[in-house]
Amino acid sequence: INNTVFDLVLFGALGDLAQRKLWPALYQLERAGLLAAESRILALAREEMEPGAFATRTAKRLEAQLDASDLDRNTVQALLGKVEYQAFDFSEAERYSVLKQWREQRSVPLIVYMATQPSIYGLIGEGLHEAQCIVADTRVVVEKPIGHDLRSSREINDQLARYFNESQIFRIDHYLGKETVQNLIALRFANNLFAAQWNQNHISHVEITVAERVGIEGRWGYFDEAGQMRDMVQNHLLQLLCLIAMDPPSDLSADSIRDEKVKILKTLRAITPDLMATHLVRGQYTAGTSDGNPVPGYLEEEGAVRESCTETFVAIKAEIENWRWVGVPFYLRTGKRLPEKVSQIIIHFKPAPHYIFDPDQKHLAHNKLIIRLQPDEGISLEVLTKDQGLDKGMRLRQGPLQLNFSKAFDTARIPDAYERLLWEVIKGNQYLFVRRDEVEFAWRWVDRLIADWESSGEAPRRYVAGTWGPVASIAMMARDGRSWYEEDV
Ligand code: BG6
Repeated sequence: INNTVFDLVLFGALGDLAQRKLWPALYQLERAGLLAAESRILALAREEMEPGAFATRTAKRLEAQLDASDLDRNTVQALLGKVEYQAFDFSEAERYSVLKQWREQRSVPLIVYMATQPSIYGLIGEGLHEAQCIVADTRVVVEKPIGHDLRSSREINDQLARYFNESQIFRIDHYLGKETVQNLIALRFANNLFAAQWNQNHISHVEITVAERVGIEGRWGYFDEAGQMRDMVQNHLLQLLCLIAMDPPSDLSADSIRDEKVKILKTLRAITPDLMATHLVRGQYTAGTSDGNPVPGYLEEEGAVRESCTETFVAIKAEIENWRWVGVPFYLRTGKRLPEKVSQIIIHFKPAPHYIFDPDQKHLAHNKLIIRLQPDEGISLEVLTKDQGLDKGMRLRQGPLQLNFSKAFDTARIPDAYERLLWEVIKGNQYLFVRRDEVEFAWRWVDRLIADWESSGEAPRRYVAGTWGPVASIAMMARDGRSWYEEDV
């Protein structure tokens, strides 16, 4: 492995994202020997600290976060040996000269990670520009939310574009960093068995479920402004839908893949007011239980300040208006305080054209491909076989051809999304990052939908915490003669 030397400047080094995800990911990269010895990390945050205090604090936190079996103190020390902390006020233009000094005599690529509010991306870009820190191989990493709607996302993208080219901007959607999500590309395009069947001639419908057991987790203010549609559908669910629906890219380059994803986003049918009753369900949880323990409703959560119509659950019947997918609904469903944390995609194949078995079993007679993204990552294909035994005649039995990744491949651990994404940034590969036009086409579809439901004045439907969302989402499927796949869930 080519472990490229780099400099990383981490803005927001003490923030929630850095602490929960970035430091543990850097630790794992260090542990895997992927951080070249000459690489350096400059950690920046507002807080003044005694020299050494940052290292002590970060080491403690890492030690608490990692499993005992995963913790190697020498690795922690090796990582922290690369780190320098500086208190930094992002809004003081003169502070950026520190960065200039830090970079003097260095010709290795500079990675700028903005683990901060998007509202200061422009400020940081300007500071770096003024300090002449931005050169051709400088990369900038930004996080969602890229805006609240199309207009604000354009503002953020314009600010970034003032200082960086698109080829330097790495927009994170952490779902693209999940191994199993990348596996969708391998599954679809390395297996002709599936590639040949992947269209409306053979597939009746697709389900994408991203269910969470957690509630709002102390972020009521942020979440209430966003809602599940902006927080999960605009990014993660639409990315999954694109990877399932896109045409084969001509190669694995970032733009080949992203061009294909954009085509899907452009062909998503708008959910206009006349479709709302059949294509969209919004829900909000009320008090119930999670894992057997009582939990409050959304409006009683800590930090809840008012009556709110923000949705914590959405189910959508999405349709793609192109030759491949005409007549094949993609049912999307995501929510907080559902019974399980599970993300899975189910491809329902059409039944055989002529059915010759027991009429009572006709409903069984279609194959399903279940792609389990998390947890228990794996793939299972539901096939029909003859039930064993003299007395069974030609009774059918449905059973899985199963591939459980951790059992089958002896993988010690599946890397966290941020490990993969940071590693791709270091290598300068953009294929797992979201291009500007993807973000904007996704917003265009979402904005229209939100505008229509807001003008309808309809409140979200209530569902009890710990259940699978409003019954209306079951009715949405039932109207089409279908039901959500809930075998393990
Ligand atoms: C984030 C959302 O992007 O994804 C959170 O802001 C959500 O609300 C999280 O909980 C889910 O990610 P994961 O990786 O736990 O499925």
